[in-house]
Amino acid sequence: MTLLKGKNGLIVGVANDRSYAWHIAKALTEQGATCAFAHIPGEKNERRTAKAASKIQQDPWLCPCDAGSDDDLDNLFAKYKADFPTMDFLVHSIAFADRDWLKVGMFSKTPRKAFLDAIDISAYTLSAMAGRAQEQMAANGGGSIMAMSYYGAEKVVPGYNIMGVAKSCLESTTRYLAYELGEHNIRVNTISGGFLRTLASSAVGGIDSVEQAIVNKAPLRRGVEGSDVGKTAVFLASDLSSGISGENLYVDCGVNIMGV
Ligand SMILES: NC(=O)c1ccc[n+]([C@@H]2O[C@H](COP(=O)([O-])OP(=O)(O)OC[C@H]3O[C@@H](n4cnc5c(N)ncnc54)[C@H](O)[C@@H]3O)[C@@H](O)[C@H]2O)c1
Repeated sequence: MTLLKGKNGLIVGVANDRSYAWHIAKALTEQGATCAFAHIPGEKNERRTAKAASKIQQDPWLCPCDAGSDDDLDNLFAKYKADFPTMDFLVHSIAFADRDWLKVGMFSKTPRKAFLDAIDISAYTLSAMAGRAQEQMAANGGGSIMAMSYYGAEKVVPGYNIMGVAKSCLESTTRYLAYELGEHNIRVNTISGGFLRTLASSAVGGIDSVEQAIVNKAPLRRGVEGSDVGKTAVFLASDLSSGISGENLYVDCGVNIMGV
């Protein structure tokens, strides 16, 4: 299990051991990588992320960061650079939208601020992080950046609302970053993950009720597991995906291919 031996990287988005980012960090670590973790500022959040990260790595490196703050982002990337010789991968696994507007019938009522906040935290931050990672990645011959998306970027998922718009923005941002950073051998991709019960997914109104329907629809006849996405993240962080950039990889047990 040494596909990623000697590689280091930053994971943004571990809230607990159900987070997609946790499953990704676990899979990367199992392949020999060393992960550093960012967490939302605040003692409780630090404790929560530390507890989850400790299940993967001994004495995990942690740094607070509200991705909505440029100062926090500057601090995170400067501290990482001071402590790690390379940044071989960067995992963006964060999203935010005010749950009041993640309800069926509320999309057209969404206030400007809630709309823009969702795009800021869920999409703009990928560009903000990639820009800050560029120098360290380029100095070591390149790197792999990946972000988590969802099928609601392309098709209407009732209640997903502004998150769907933000995910479309995230996927487009990925393609523009892939073009711009490609000259440094930095690859940028999204993983379109299937529905997984997490803090974030519980904010989407009515999503629970469609969980079984999603499983019934899936060609693989099951729901996605965090480890399915973790294994894809290993592929994207490793040299096995050296020619892949700007792509959106579905890890949803095949749900996206179905018409009905
Ligand atoms: N769970 C699903 O069904 C599903 C499916 C596809 C894609 N995704 C995506 O996966 C990613 C991770 O979500 P998850 O389901 O693991 O839920 P999660 O709640 O475990 O993770 C969301 C993370 O976003 C972080 N976050 C929110 N606002 C932030 C901010 N201002 N600054 C820094 N971090 C912030 C939270 O702290 C948390 O760690 C998200 O992009 C989500 O949209 C989730």
